[in-house]
This record gives sequence, structure tokens and C-alpha cells, in this order.
Amino acid sequence: MMKITFIGGGNMGEAMLSAVLNKGLSLAQAVSVSDVDEACCQCLEQKYGVAVMNDNRQVVTRGEVVVLAVKPQHLGGVMAELKGRLSSAQLVLSIVAGARIDTLCRGLNHSRVVRAMSNTPAQIGEGISVWTATPEVTESQRGWAGSILGAMGKEIYVDDEKYMDMVTAVSGSGPAYIFLMVESLVKAAVDIGLPSDMAQELVLQTLLGSGHFIQRSGKPPAELRRMVTSPGGTTAEALLRLEKGGFSDLIGQAVRAAYNKAEKLGG
Ligand SMILES: NC(=O)c1ccc[n+]([C@@H]2O[C@H](COP(=O)([O-])OP(=O)(O)OC[C@H]3O[C@@H](n4cnc5c(N)ncnc54)[C@H](OP(=O)(O)O)[C@@H]3O)[C@@H](O)[C@H]2O)c1
Repeated sequence: MMKITFIGGGNMGEAMLSAVLNKGLSLAQAVSVSDVDEACCQCLEQKYGVAVMNDNRQVVTRGEVVVLAVKPQHLGGVMAELKGRLSSAQLVLSIVAGARIDTLCRGLNHSRVVRAMSNTPAQIGEGISVWTATPEVTESQRGWAGSILGAMGKEIYVDDEKYMDMVTAVSGSGPAYIFLMVESLVKAAVDIGLPSDMAQELVLQTLLGSGHFIQRSGKPPAELRRMVTSPGGTTAEALLRLEKGGFSDLIGQAVRAAYNKAEKLGG
């Protein structure tokens, strides 16, 4: 049974904590959480029966795995508190967006570090996390990291940190691109006269159905698109308009902009 400590029990900390318990990777009595938010502490204690306190320094010594799940702007302060309190055998698993391995190792004066990038669907076990690790992380600790992240959806290990900023621009920020597409499609549906609740249902099921169809058919999306596009038909008319407006190029530019920003933020 894995002893695991969470620094930060907000959206992602709780998602991971709940997934770890649900999948039986740990037990409530082996889990501890520290968060500055009193209400959050009480809620986690009641909901999961885990030990919760408002003291990063005290809690950090408890876990074999220490998960850093605070916002990037709080990371500096948290690292300063934890520095010198980690034993060399502990594994630090950071899900803090943009925090580089080198920053974490130096900030914590610690060498066993996993850096992961998850996304919001992880909160319902449908996320995708990409992670990398320092050479000092042992095989069994890599196994732990893979199973913790895998408890929130899919996980992919990469041996080169350069991929993390690319992942941030694609799957990290990606849910927001899809949400915008859904919002726009619902608005367009309402604009041509559909009732709003029906528009929502049509768009949502089209999104889910299309995702599953891509996955299960095993066919490339371009082929599926051609299959539903009869020459001279309605779909062709819409796609023509999208391409005239530079849809594919715009997606390319948006992802590139997110990637450039991720590189800049990481320093
Ligand atoms: N949300 C996502 O889907 C997602 C996806 C990928 C990566 N991430 C990364 O995951 C990390 C956590 O995101 P989140 O959405 O879970 O944020 P969140 O909901 O704000 O959770 C962070 C928690 O940490 C607490 N906290 C702040 N300072 C602290 C300190 N010094 N010591 C202990 N706890 C402290 C916060 O309390 P207060 O609210 O009082 O500040 C909050 O309860 C971020 O670095 C983010 O980049 C999130």
C-alpha cells in the first residue's frame, strides 16, 4: 500500500486523491493532505477519511510519494517550505503546469522528481497525462507514477522533457478548444432556430458520438470526414465555408501560440 501525501487538495489534488482511493492504489489511512484552505481541508477529511492539515512542513515527511498540486504562482513558496524536509528516497510528483524538472529539483534540493501534465477531464477519470522523470526515479517509483496518473485516465511516459510544452498546447489546453467549439456550435444551432436545450443535446451527443466513432472505427478522421461529405451536399457547403475562413490554419496558429507561451512561461 502506497503512502501518499498531497500538497494542495483543490480540483486536481482531490481528483487524484479520489482516483487513487477508488482504484485501491492506497488506503485512506495512508493518505495525507495539506492545504491552506480550511474549508477544503474539512471537506476532504469528511469525504475521504484522510488525514488533513494546514501544514506543508509536517505533512511532507509522511508520504513515499509527495504530490505537488498547487497553482504555479504558489509553487515557489511551497518549495521553500519543503526544501530540506524531503528524504532522498521520496518521490515528488508535480502536476504544476509549466514547472520544469530543473526548477523543481533545485527548488526542493531533491532529485527523484516526476513532472506530469494532466488535463481537466482527469477530474472525472477521463483525462490524459503525459509525464517524465529524472534518472534517479527508480523503476518501482515509475510504476507508482504511471498507476497514479493512469487512475485519472490515460497516461503516456516520455523520456524527453521537451515534449511537455507541446503536450500543454495540445491536451493540456485542448479541452478549452473543444469547449469553445461546443459553445459556438450550440450558438449557431440556436441562431438558425433550434430550441436551446435541444441544441445542447444535439451538439453534445455529436461530440461524444464522433469521438467514439473515431476511436472505434480505427479509420483516420480525414477518411471519416470524407465519408460524411457528399459532393455538393450540406456538409461540403459548411466545410468549404470553414476552410475559406482559415479553420485548419487557425487551429495550427492557436496551438503554436499556446506552445510558444508554454515555453516562455517555463523560462
Ligand atoms: N485543473 C486542471 O485540470 C489542471 C490540469 C492540468 C494541470 N493542472 C495543474 O494542477 C495544479 C493544481 O490546479 P487546481 O486546478 O487543482 O488548483 P486549485 O483548485 O486552486 O487547487 C490548489 C489548492 O492548493 C491550495 N494552496 C494554495 N497555496 C498553498 C500552499 N502554500 N500550501 C498548500 N496548499 C496551497 C489552494 O488553496 P487556495 O484556493 O486557498 O489558494 C487550493 O485549494 C496547478 O499547478 C495546475 O497548473 C491543473
